Amino acid sequence: MALDMDKLNEFIGRFVGDLGATVAAGNVVIGHRLGLYKALADGPATAAELAAATKTNSRYVAEWLNGQAAGGYIEFAPATDAYWMTEEQAFALTNPDHPIYMPGAYVLALGSLRAVPRIAEAFRAGEGMGWHEHDEEVFVGCEQFFRNTYIGKLIPSWIPALEGVEEKLRAGARVADIGCGLGASSILLATEYPNSHVHGFDYHDRSIELARKRAGDAGVADRITFEVASAAAFPGSDYDLAATFDCLHDMGDPLSAARHIRRALKPDGTWLVVEPYAADGPGGNMNPVGRIYYNFSTMLCVPSALSQPGGYALGAQAGEAAIRQIATDGGFTRFRRATEWPFNIVYEVRP
Ligand SMILES: C[S@@+](CC[C@H](N)C(=O)[O-])C[C@H]1O[C@@H](n2cnc3c(N)ncnc32)[C@H](O)[C@@H]1O
Repeated sequence: MALDMDKLNEFIGRFVGDLGATVAAGNVVIGHRLGLYKALADGPATAAELAAATKTNSRYVAEWLNGQAAGGYIEFAPATDAYWMTEEQAFALTNPDHPIYMPGAYVLALGSLRAVPRIAEAFRAGEGMGWHEHDEEVFVGCEQFFRNTYIGKLIPSWIPALEGVEEKLRAGARVADIGCGLGASSILLATEYPNSHVHGFDYHDRSIELARKRAGDAGVADRITFEVASAAAFPGSDYDLAATFDCLHDMGDPLSAARHIRRALKPDGTWLVVEPYAADGPGGNMNPVGRIYYNFSTMLCVPSALSQPGGYALGAQAGEAAIRQIATDGGFTRFRRATEWPFNIVYEVRP
């Protein structure tokens, strides 16, 4: 069979881009950790100047700068040997409190990839790997990756898309944030709605420990309670709002979680389900966003679900039909896609 050279070259071009991005990932995390992006955003600098400003070694910084510039993450002016950032690069790479902060995603990616040997074994054995068994960078990276979306979307767009929920939160509501991780969503809700009390639950003790610290740092510890609890057995009742942010598909038994949430909600309460953007079948997910999610899901979401009893492993590309089925089987009668953006679908689920 004759090779189609055009197709081969196109495929090799894809490989070159992917390989460059893969090896650049560590340098994005280094830039984030050492403050290199932040310092460069202050104004054009040579390698020596950036190294001096960040108290780093100029030879390493020179190599880092060239890799970043070759990848289009920063700019280079050969005439002056200076490197600089556009407004857009600085916006997306320097401020963890912006709606977009790209380095957090790389922290999560590198942390996830540390599990490759274990996951390769799991492919053969069919075993799971619990969320809690991953490298700490997975927990922190996940927080850093998702928090920016929540800053940009949760308060301005997702809460207002739910019927009557914003009013309840302003007046003072009981909120359960289930599978809360490091509590990024819980803290935003508690900050924006000071009359409400947020109860954050996660089965992972280390995440809860970090979430408590984050709440203290944010000055909202008096209106948040973080507890170690599984989604199918968290304490409390009469919640006005229950929320699962990007975690329902990570559970081995999302059905028991749905049933428990149904019991814990007030009769007029709302379950906010935030899930990765996905079509119902793989055919609709063959795109760059689907690629990100399927690959994270192989390292994190499917192993997490397989590590738990329940028999489910929905994966990060579960799609609306699967989520609706869980909600309906869990005893909910109203299910609606409230809003969406390219990375998430937000469902409103009511008793
Ligand atoms: C992808 S992280 C999302 C964390 C957080 N909701 C966020 O958006 O940043 C998934 C979280 O679900 C938690 N989780 C997985 N299975 C769980 C279960 N059965 N009960 C409670 N939490 C669970 C994990 O510990 C992890 O913190």
